[in-house]
Amino acid sequence: LEIDSYTKEQQIATYSTYEVVDDLVLPKDFTYDIIAAWGDPVGDSRFGYNNDYLSFIETKPNEGYLTINFEYISGQTWMKTYEKVIGKTLPFTEVKSTLAANQGEINAFALSDSDPLKTKIKEISKEGLIDLGIGIISIRRNKDGKWERTFSDRDRRITGISGLEDQRYLKSTGPSVAVFTKSNKLGYEDQLGSKIIGTFQNCAGGTTPWGTVFSAEENFQDQVYDPVMADGTSFNPSAKPFFINDVEIDGRGNVFGLASNKYGWMVEVDPANPNDYGTKHTWLGRYRHEAVGFRVEKGKPLAVYSGCDRRGGHLYKFVSKDFIRNPKDKQNSQLLERGMLYGARFNPDGTGKWLPLTLNTPVDPVLPSQIVERQKVGIVALPNPNRTEGGIVAYTKDEDIAFYKQKFKTLSDLYEGNPAEKQGAILIDAHYAANAAGITCTARPEDTEVSPDGTLYITFTSGTPGEDGGPDKNIFFGTKGETPYEYGWIMSLKEDQNDPSAMSFRWRMFATGGEPTQGGLGFSNPDNLEFDASGHLWMVCDMSTTSHNDPKKTLGIFGNNTAWFLPTSGPNMGNAYPFAIGPMDTELTGPWFTKDQQTLFLSVQHPGEAGGTRQDMAFEEREFTLNTTQRQEFMQQRKVPIGSNWP
Ligand code: FEO
Ligand code: CA
Ligand code: CA
Ligand code: CA
Repeated sequence: LEIDSYTKEQQIATYSTYEVVDDLVLPKDFTYDIIAAWGDPVGDSRFGYNNDYLSFIETKPNEGYLTINFEYISGQTWMKTYEKVIGKTLPFTEVKSTLAANQGEINAFALSDSDPLKTKIKEISKEGLIDLGIGIISIRRNKDGKWERTFSDRDRRITGISGLEDQRYLKSTGPSVAVFTKSNKLGYEDQLGSKIIGTFQNCAGGTTPWGTVFSAEENFQDQVYDPVMADGTSFNPSAKPFFINDVEIDGRGNVFGLASNKYGWMVEVDPANPNDYGTKHTWLGRYRHEAVGFRVEKGKPLAVYSGCDRRGGHLYKFVSKDFIRNPKDKQNSQLLERGMLYGARFNPDGTGKWLPLTLNTPVDPVLPSQIVERQKVGIVALPNPNRTEGGIVAYTKDEDIAFYKQKFKTLSDLYEGNPAEKQGAILIDAHYAANAAGITCTARPEDTEVSPDGTLYITFTSGTPGEDGGPDKNIFFGTKGETPYEYGWIMSLKEDQNDPSAMSFRWRMFATGGEPTQGGLGFSNPDNLEFDASGHLWMVCDMSTTSHNDPKKTLGIFGNNTAWFLPTSGPNMGNAYPFAIGPMDTELTGPWFTKDQQTLFLSVQHPGEAGGTRQDMAFEEREFTLNTTQRQEFMQQRKVPIGSNWP
């Protein structure tokens, strides 16, 4: 695809002929191969459900290891199709009817192991957790140009229950291990110390120059409890039901007694090492990790960026204590064991600074009046001073936060234990500790991708506030000043002196979602990013399944979620062009290019999640005009620095 000659007119001509169909729609002259699907054999397990991040590590041209994330389960579709795809019967109906008969009041955690209901609940939950996690498959492009699997001894699954029955535990590093190894604490029924059972909710990720893949545990709160005790340990696991997406499976209490604070981390795995089942690096913090971006430069510390994809979630950066000697050395994994985690405080004037998440960081909470309001209230959740009752308190009035600031001077005052344990607890409680430190609440940061020149690009997918928070209204607003602004943005962030370990930065808008008439580029809810070899940006979007193809709700020009490209230089710089369009009810995830740029790997996630029933819905063609003047006027009015990237 000749990006710079792919004009707006050609793009309109190509895409106006598109229909909303249940297929992956590509421009003329492009074709696709399906490499793997749910239920296919992988090692001694199977290919999981709702694949997300993809990373292809080439061992030679057009051959190597494809690592795949399996994020979550679309409950209804999974139950409906499980038997057909997996070829095994599960007691869905029985469990659901028993739960219904008891109004869901079954404490599965408290049921004895010999109780037939508990056995059945466990069976379903186990199959659900097997479908989550990470997979590694060996693939190559054959002489006909088709991609195929080669089934090597590296092929394996790391599932939601790895370790439970097979000793294939995940490992952990960093300060929170001091908390994991505390004994006789509530939530440590696993008795495993630094060892961890499984990984789940693996959304996007990142790939290091030393050949390992990082996988982000995002919406772990769907399976385990989110807040923690003041000493960083878990609340009783029976406090959290086990969900398969929106379907509650076990009444009350996760059946395996998983220690909540061992989920919500970044997992590193080396695809080439068949005995590696993953390591969770706790210095990167525990929150709803979407993805990860690495800045790896010889002679400098390692910088690792990641966003927390919750409404009001923060942008984080880890900086290693030690320096990189050789970017390709596998020993670089050890750089994750010493350093500091920082959160970004954005200023409205386009500057910002990194605040450390550590013991002596002053308590200076985010104020509810700073937050985009939900039902006329800004909400900020802070660590609860009395952790025996609950993990957090949601504040809605600035006055109520004043006492908090008076009582607690530093983050150290909010946590219990010796200094090492307190640092571990702060990282486990990262989101709430960051709120307490006054780190900026943002608009659901999805991908954090480092460009070849070191600039960080961040997709903020939605400015809508939620039940427990929302974005800072002085930074994250719509292109016409409207808040909340659902359609998202891409922002760029440059470290001062272009130094990976800088403690201050400058930020600016790169591209805005929303309709062109609103000053947007026609996409909605930007999600993952990938740079091609020419430094152009590729992006996949994630409009929620319920708003696909609804002309009244969808701001994308086309019905289904789309993959886009945005030239970062040349005559079309700053414009957004649709490339691939996903099948019904899907989002495209995991974009990854082969080194020769001939193949783009994509995951097609949650096909038919809503039943694929909207195929007949009206397809509304929209005007594709960029209202540059309007947008620039607005940005100037809001004093947002207008970058040279703006068209
Ligand atoms: Fe799993 Fe934030 O997308
Ligand atoms: Ca995502
Ligand atoms: Ca990415
Ligand atoms: Ca998503």
